[in-house]
Amino acid sequence: MSAQIIPFELEYELRFSTDPEWVEVAKADFDAFLKDHAACERKAASLAMSMVQHYPDKPDLIRGMIDLAMEEMAHFREVMKIMLDRGLQQDNDEKDPYIQQLLKNVRTGTAEYLLDRLLVFSIVEKRGHERFHMMGEALDEPKMKDFYLRLARAEYRHYTLFVKLAYQYFDAEVVSQRLDELLDAEAAIVRNLEHRAAVH
Ligand SMILES: [Fe+2]
Ligand SMILES: [Fe+2]
Repeated sequence: MSAQIIPFELEYELRFSTDPEWVEVAKADFDAFLKDHAACERKAASLAMSMVQHYPDKPDLIRGMIDLAMEEMAHFREVMKIMLDRGLQQDNDEKDPYIQQLLKNVRTGTAEYLLDRLLVFSIVEKRGHERFHMMGEALDEPKMKDFYLRLARAEYRHYTLFVKLAYQYFDAEVVSQRLDELLDAEAAIVRNLEHRAAVH
């Protein structure tokens, strides 16, 4: 697909829409979905903190990632509260097939590694936005519906934060070209992903 990304445009579209069947599979085992969701929030927080530790020379990245880590931890607290109220326990972490495949696209080399991670994490947030929105729309219970629609809005902010940082540290042309490639790669991954009672 050709690049439709305007330099410094922080918003972009995913190139494959999640099949509506996914939300049915996720709703059918909502407890399993919640457990996976909690793990995703916890992993997002620790990933943001690992970025803080990895880039001591990038103050804006550090500020953004600390805020992000705190917000993801707040999400984790909320999902854990819902889980504990339902008497659910966390499972051992298992590898998320979507993330695993996506991370294979991260190149080595200091600059490439940073650029690819910023863009991959942006795409993950964007996909989270899509899926939480779908879940919010699909749920009937008002509190849970509002919860997922609110989280969807948060993921929307997160996805633009990562793109903004990418444009801050790299040339616009380099960013949009790499984003173009990664969006194609992500679309292919999601197209072939088995539907699970999980965020991905
Ligand atoms: Fe989150
Ligand atoms: Fe997020």
